[in-house]
Amino acid sequence: MVVSRVWYLTRRPEGFPRKDDFTLKEEQLPPCGDGEVIAAAEYVSVDPYLRYRARQIELDTVMTGTAVCRVIESRNSEWPEGSYLVHNTGWRTHTLLKKESLESSSYFGGCFRLPDYHGLPRSLSLGALGMPGNTAYFGLLEICKPKEGETVLVNCAAGAVGSLVVQIAKLKGCKVIGFTGSDEKVSYLMEIGADHAFNYKTTPIGEALEKAAPEKINCYFDNVGGQFTAEALPHMADFCRIAVCGAISTYNDESKDIGKISMTSPYSEATILWKQLRIEGFIVVHWQDRWTEGIEQIKQWITEGKIKYRETITDGFDKVPDAFIGLFSGENIGKAVVKV
Ligand SMILES: NC(=O)c1ccc[n+]([C@@H]2O[C@H](COP(=O)([O-])OP(=O)(O)OC[C@H]3O[C@@H](n4cnc5c(N)ncnc54)[C@H](OP(=O)(O)O)[C@@H]3O)[C@@H](O)[C@H]2O)c1
Repeated sequence: MVVSRVWYLTRRPEGFPRKDDFTLKEEQLPPCGDGEVIAAAEYVSVDPYLRYRARQIELDTVMTGTAVCRVIESRNSEWPEGSYLVHNTGWRTHTLLKKESLESSSYFGGCFRLPDYHGLPRSLSLGALGMPGNTAYFGLLEICKPKEGETVLVNCAAGAVGSLVVQIAKLKGCKVIGFTGSDEKVSYLMEIGADHAFNYKTTPIGEALEKAAPEKINCYFDNVGGQFTAEALPHMADFCRIAVCGAISTYNDESKDIGKISMTSPYSEATILWKQLRIEGFIVVHWQDRWTEGIEQIKQWITEGKIKYRETITDGFDKVPDAFIGLFSGENIGKAVVKV
């Protein structure tokens, strides 16, 4: 019998999430039936969107999340022991995967078979070669549509999505301005090719943009929202394309939840109107049909040395909530994952 350790959401987070919003339990898995496999998580992903999930899922259920897993027991010839997959198992060490879920090869809601990574770490399937990588790739190229010589602004720029946006924009011949939350991360942004990088905690955003982008900004890849966007908006060029990828500065604020009426938008209507801005929100699932295209392209850029990746790996399944909470205080550089 395989025993799985499982993190349950047992209390609704109020504001900043806390470790005691979650409870670690042990569960015995049923025996592996015909067509089924038992998969052991190798890395569990922690992602900002889980803060929304913590509002949406029922209490006393397993916390949602994606993991890279190794098949350790198999009664399915398509998935022999030793196969690797990405699955939305939730925060669990071991999972019994039913035949039906093994039949869907989708990254979302199914079993995504790990392609050959040519020696790159498997954890990248949760980061640069997974959902965050494609978020940067499609969000930037399909929504911002940067042209050579244009100026791109990105915040959360040292994180999983942002650090790829910086580098893809540079590959497309743009001038890139990145904002992040520490001086160490500012140095990292310069290392990966940003033309200007600022610590938003110590530098006034408007003043920094005045100096770094006197020509104004053509593409704004927004991961933060709120006050940052309000202060950045006057620095947009006419016809600037804004990709609303995330709004992490608002995730712990219940009044900003989906469907709530907000009278405190960071967007000035007059600015949108007079600058003729195009503002588009997106969810990366939108490009599910082109999933492999993004991953293959990023993998090629990595193997050619054109894109660097970084991961913050927390050791130990016991620390999954800590790694998740750490996202909201900026503890990670690059993708945050937990090694089980
Ligand atoms: N639309 C989509 O399909 C999609 C998919 C994936 C991710 N996203 C969004 O993309 C954004 C980045 O996600 P990620 O996975 O790459 O996470 P990440 O950037 O690797 O980690 C989160 C980072 O957010 C920053 N942060 C936390 N609280 C903040 C605040 N109040 N103000 C400003 N920055 C704050 C921290 O960096 P600093 O040190 O720089 O503050 C932290 O390291 C998030 O908004 C996420 O929801 C959207």
